[in-house]
Amino acid sequence: MRRFWGRLAAAGALLTISLVLVPGLARAEFKCSSCHRGLITGSVAHPPVAAGECTHCHRQLSDAHPLEKGSMGFVVPREKLCLHCHTKLLTDSKPFFHKPVAEGKCTGCHNHHSSDYKALLKDAPPNLCFRCHDQTKFTGAAFTHKPVAEGKCLACHEPHQATGRYLLRKPGSELCLMCHDKKYATGKSIHGPIKTGECTKCHLVHGSPNRKLLKAEMPTELYRPFTPDAFPLCFYCHNPDLVSEVKTTKTTGFRNGDRNLHAVHVNKPGKGRSCLLCHNPHASSQDRLIYTHAPGFGSWQIPIRYTKTDTGGQCSVGCHKTYRYDRGKALDNN
Ligand code: HEC
Ligand code: HEC
Ligand code: HEC
Ligand code: HEC
Ligand code: HEC
Ligand code: HEC
Ligand code: HEC
Ligand code: HEC
Ligand code: HEC
Ligand code: HEC
Repeated sequence: MRRFWGRLAAAGALLTISLVLVPGLARAEFKCSSCHRGLITGSVAHPPVAAGECTHCHRQLSDAHPLEKGSMGFVVPREKLCLHCHTKLLTDSKPFFHKPVAEGKCTGCHNHHSSDYKALLKDAPPNLCFRCHDQTKFTGAAFTHKPVAEGKCLACHEPHQATGRYLLRKPGSELCLMCHDKKYATGKSIHGPIKTGECTKCHLVHGSPNRKLLKAEMPTELYRPFTPDAFPLCFYCHNPDLVSEVKTTKTTGFRNGDRNLHAVHVNKPGKGRSCLLCHNPHASSQDRLIYTHAPGFGSWQIPIRYTKTDTGGQCSVGCHKTYRYDRGKALDNN
């Protein structure tokens, strides 16, 4: 009997303690909104906040709340809070994460309760991006790529994660060809770096000190005096010997016997020809990237018909006669 009363007294004490210490059990509700008002300041609210589901993110502590100054009382550690519900980011996980996403710093870009921007963003791109990335690196150059100037960072980049480096939406030249004509990568001959999908071997993607976003200069004049520095872009990868050696049996296939025809056309102190008079830097419907038309006078385009042979080739330009060359035995064109 005494044991029973003893137990009852103990239970009563426990009940009293819990009523005092855990008021939630005794009183109807510990209503967050009775003290916290005006949390939704932006035009679009985060749905669980709008629904008053505060305790899905913050623990209900007690009347003595907040227990520790500076503690938000999150239900899980802060860096796991958002992923607690937004599991898609984890289940769709791709190999490359944006660093703040990998670190769970979702609130580097998103507001937690509400926002004036879509997707609860703290700001719209590009300003959102410039909170962490130095703006001058993107818009500070003499020539800025149009989508970059227009702040369309997300046209090329994923905000959270991607299958490849740099958070790109598509790999290699596929990215560029989302907006640019496929002609840059189609033809009978396609330039080496384009075959391998590397438009960015020649172009800077955000901005450049050179026209056409080029990595190195490529002159616009179609005639200029030749020096080994005359065509920095081409000579970044190709050896200028292909032009400078007047007699050669190896630096170029464009020769008649050992007479270097690149030298004949390009290597002149006065009116040397530009590479772009004959070669398309991207691709061509003829062999060896030879343009089908060279810029002529005014709007007149001079047609070029080029045919490659095993040991040389032949070329008919506009109304002129056909010239032939052969690397084995020099041909006489007269
Ligand atoms: C989706 C999760 C989530 C929900 C739901 C939520 N909060 Fe928060 N709350 C946060 C986060 C995250 C922070 C801290 C932001 C920071 O420190 O950058 C925060 C901060 C706060 C703060 C500190 C002041 C401030 O605004 O930063 C208060 C107060 C607060 N929440 C109250 C509430 C109340 C009341 C509700 C319910 C109406 C609520 N929260 C619902 C995630 C949430
Ligand atoms: C009785 C009034 C009251 C109620 C009810 C109340 N809070 Fe608070 N809360 C406060 C006060 C006071 C602070 C301290 C504000 C300050 O320091 O600026 C605070 C601070 C907070 C903070 C910020 C903590 C920090 O360290 O900065 C969060 C988050 C919070 N409350 C969430 C909630 C949630 C969620 C609820 C509902 C479950 C709730 N509060 C209910 C009065 C209340
Ligand atoms: C308690 C669950 C929960 C938590 C925790 C949570 N969210 Fe949400 N969130 C939702 C729901 C529900 C929606 C609306 C449905 C949807 O869009 O998937 C939503 C929508 C969103 C949206 C899309 C809004 C829009 O307009 O498209 C963003 C962005 C977002 N949450 C960010 C966050 C961030 C950042 C955190 C961490 C601070 C977070 N969420 C934590 C439940 C949650
Ligand atoms: C670097 C900035 C940045 C960070 C960090 C970031 N986001 Fe986002 N998030 C965005 C942008 C930008 C969008 C809008 C994309 C769009 O317009 O299509 C977005 C959209 C969303 C959406 C709604 C659309 C969707 O893709 O489902 C959710 C939910 C979301 N983010 C959750 C999160 C969570 C959870 C985290 C942290 C793990 C996080 N975000 C971290 C920039 C960020
Ligand atoms: C909260 C800060 C923050 C914001 C906002 C932010 N980033 Fe980042 N971003 C980072 C950090 C940190 C890195 C890693 C930098 C490093 O490793 O040097 C990074 C890296 C990157 C990378 C390189 C990824 C790689 O694979 O090397 C790209 C691309 C990028 N961010 C694009 C964006 C874009 C686009 C936006 C706007 C939608 C944006 N960032 C907004 C912090 C941010
Ligand atoms: C036309 C597509 C495109 C647009 C638009 C674009 N980027 Fe990029 N971005 C790239 C590519 C491609 C790379 C890969 C590195 C490279 O080739 O230079 C890159 C690399 C990056 C990097 C990592 C390397 C670095 O330079 O720091 C960051 C950060 C970045 N971009 C941020 C941005 C921001 C911010 C914007 C908007 C202002 C933006 N990008 C707009 C295509 C783009
Ligand atoms: C989101 C669409 C988009 C993507 C993706 C894109 N570009 Fe562009 N690009 C443009 C627009 C728009 C212009 C301006 C065209 C105009 O003014 O006629 C442009 C212009 C250019 C120019 C000419 C610049 C000048 O000064 O005339 C080059 C070169 C270029 N882009 C290269 C690239 C490369 C290389 C890539 C891939 C890394 C790429 N673009 C990806 C939209 C894009
Ligand atoms: C070998 C170097 C090189 C590569 C690789 C390269 N480009 Fe170019 N690109 C150039 C040169 C040189 C020009 C300027 C041509 C001129 O001035 O006539 C140019 C110009 C452009 C222009 C501007 C055209 C105009 O008429 O204004 C675009 C767009 C462009 N390239 C897109 C691309 C795309 C897309 C790729 C990848 C598929 C690519 N480029 C790869 C060298 C290259
Ligand atoms: C980023 C490096 C790079 C740059 C810059 C570059 N090229 Fe090339 N080029 C290559 C590669 C790689 C090949 C393929 C070599 C091979 O197949 O052996 C090639 C091949 C060629 C060919 C032969 C094409 C064929 O069908 O056989 C021509 C012609 C050519 N380049 C002209 C140029 C001109 C003109 C420039 C300057 C506008 C230039 N290249 C700039 C890398 C480059
Ligand atoms: C008059 C037209 C013409 C000009 C100007 C010209 N090329 Fe060529 N190039 C050709 C022809 C034709 C071939 C094909 C040779 C063969 O394979 O039979 C060729 C071949 C090439 C090749 C393939 C390798 C080789 O040498 O056989 C490269 C690389 C090249 N040219 C680069 C250049 C560069 C760089 C310039 C400017 C400095 C330039 N070309 C100027 C007509 C020209």
